[in-house]
Amino acid sequence: MELPNAALVLVVAAAAMLSVAVAYDPLDPNGNITIKWDVLSWTPDGYVATVTINNFQTYRQIMAPGWTVGWTWAKREVIWSMVGAQATEQGDCSKFKANLPHSCKRTPAVVDLLPGVPYNQQIANCCRGGVVSAYGQDPSGAVSSFQVSVGQAGTTNRTVKVPKNFTLLGPGPGYTCGPAKVVPSTVFLTADHRRKTQALMTWNVTCTYSQHLASKYPTCCVSFSSFYNDTIVPCARCACGCEHKTCARSERDSKRLMSASGKSARPVSALRGHVNRQSAAPLLQCTTHMCPVRVHWHVKLNYHDYWRAKVTVTNFNYRTNYTGWTLVAQHPNLDNITEVFSFDYKPVVSYGSINDTALFYGMKFFNDQLVEAGPYGNVQSEVLMRKDASTFTFRQGWAFPRKIYFNGDECRMPPPDSYPYLPNSAPASLVSSASVVVAVAFLVLLMA
Ligand SMILES: *[C@@H]1O[C@H](CO)[C@@H](O)[C@H](O)[C@H]1NC(C)=O
Ligand SMILES: *[C@@H]1O[C@H](CO)[C@@H](O)[C@H](O)[C@H]1NC(C)=O
Ligand SMILES: *[C@@H]1O[C@H](CO)[C@@H](O)[C@H](O)[C@H]1NC(C)=O
Ligand SMILES: *[C@@H]1O[C@H](CO)[C@@H](O)[C@H](O)[C@H]1NC(C)=O
Ligand SMILES: *[C@@H]1O[C@H](CO)[C@@H](O)[C@H](O)[C@H]1NC(C)=O
Ligand SMILES: *[C@@H]1O[C@H](CO)[C@@H](O)[C@H](O)[C@H]1NC(C)=O
Ligand SMILES: *[C@@H]1O[C@H](CO)[C@@H](O)[C@H](O)[C@H]1NC(C)=O
Ligand SMILES: *[C@@H]1O[C@H](CO)[C@@H](O)[C@H](O)[C@H]1NC(C)=O
Repeated sequence: MELPNAALVLVVAAAAMLSVAVAYDPLDPNGNITIKWDVLSWTPDGYVATVTINNFQTYRQIMAPGWTVGWTWAKREVIWSMVGAQATEQGDCSKFKANLPHSCKRTPAVVDLLPGVPYNQQIANCCRGGVVSAYGQDPSGAVSSFQVSVGQAGTTNRTVKVPKNFTLLGPGPGYTCGPAKVVPSTVFLTADHRRKTQALMTWNVTCTYSQHLASKYPTCCVSFSSFYNDTIVPCARCACGCEHKTCARSERDSKRLMSASGKSARPVSALRGHVNRQSAAPLLQCTTHMCPVRVHWHVKLNYHDYWRAKVTVTNFNYRTNYTGWTLVAQHPNLDNITEVFSFDYKPVVSYGSINDTALFYGMKFFNDQLVEAGPYGNVQSEVLMRKDASTFTFRQGWAFPRKIYFNGDECRMPPPDSYPYLPNSAPASLVSSASVVVAVAFLVLLMA
């Protein structure tokens, strides 16, 4: 029998230790979200600014119910009006007589508008319900903007005070934002590219994601199987935490639980506050792993120069359709992908030459939505890789991925010592010649 690969165990353990509490993702070291304010004009008591949220993360999108951006005003500023977004609360505007501001909160929370608002309430890159694509998947969808008219503020670049304590919620916590920094003013090119204009003042905020801040447990798990061993290695038990979780035993049970809680999975109004976020809490199908998502990697076929893995992503969450989902896999042979069936694919090149990470996502209008748990709640693909003659082997779990991320969160791997063994593939010295003959015959049969 084969022993688990000690080196792999070490790598997995080291990776687990390194990723604790550090907002650093080794597969996406430069990934961040910036919030940029460009002051475009001064008003009698303040300014009008365009706020642009850029998602520079390679594979972590902001999915429904979208972003919420918050900050603390430095002085007594108010928001007179907004275009393309809205503050979730007006707050106490009782000091104002005739014209009431849009929001008087000292710590406003702003959300995007939902699609379909009238054109006069829109600006470019607004009104997508706060959904922002990952940059590596769709650069043109990785930006979101709104305009804000601020009163009781400074009216020159020396008297304006930049807001403090920026916060960014994706569908949940996880992001930490640095201080706003005044940066060189943004230069804009007019639509006909014949004239440049410039913001009167610009400040930037950088926010980074930490999975450990987002949730105590992983949100997905990985299971394995192979053509050369009947064992299916399931997701680790309670991979996503089992405490205080209710789950549904069947689809009918899920409907009962959803109507009992009286909450809809969909936002009921354009004003999406924390109440609606709560209802987006997962309602899971009962499993031993209790994860909303499982990624199964099956080593399917062995050819002379190629091999093939089948990847299946299954949704166990009755409350969520994962629209625009992403899957990231790290495996040393992913630098030699020959063909990917029914998923789109891009290499993730994080450090120069190392090219062992791939970003997979669904094809538009075909499988870019991983629908809620149930008979249709899965997507699958096959990946054909050219064997790298110097490293290729089925031994010691080599054919299984080193890391898997779903929607930007790292998934829990099965315990390293549980990977399917290649039958009778122990070190040559321990294997009788008879069993070598049997094993070779077996492989030849499989390759045929
Ligand atoms: C944010 O991401 C961009 C794009 O990857 C990068 O150029 C920039 O240095 C990052 N900023 C910080 C503060 O890490
Ligand atoms: C910003 O947040 C920090 C810590 O949460 C707090 O100590 C500080 O008072 C806040 N600043 C303002 C202006 O609210
Ligand atoms: C403020 O505006 C003055 C001109 O009015 C300009 O010279 C200066 O660079 C600006 N400062 C900043 C930080 O934008
Ligand atoms: C500010 O953010 C923009 C992206 O919105 C980025 O292009 C620019 O480099 C940033 N500036 C600084 C000084 O970080
Ligand atoms: C998921 O999408 C399908 C149609 O694409 C819809 O019927 C279903 O209600 C959606 N489920 C959730 C939880 O939003
Ligand atoms: C990475 O691998 C892909 C094929 O999987 C290839 O298209 C791409 O050019 C490679 N990039 C580098 C920098 O080697
Ligand atoms: C796999 O790709 C690497 C570069 O990405 C290349 O050097 C190597 O020759 C390839 N191996 C095979 C077997 O094609
Ligand atoms: C298949 O792999 C499992 C480990 O996951 C191992 O216990 C079992 O002995 C293997 N079966 C064969 C036929 O080698």
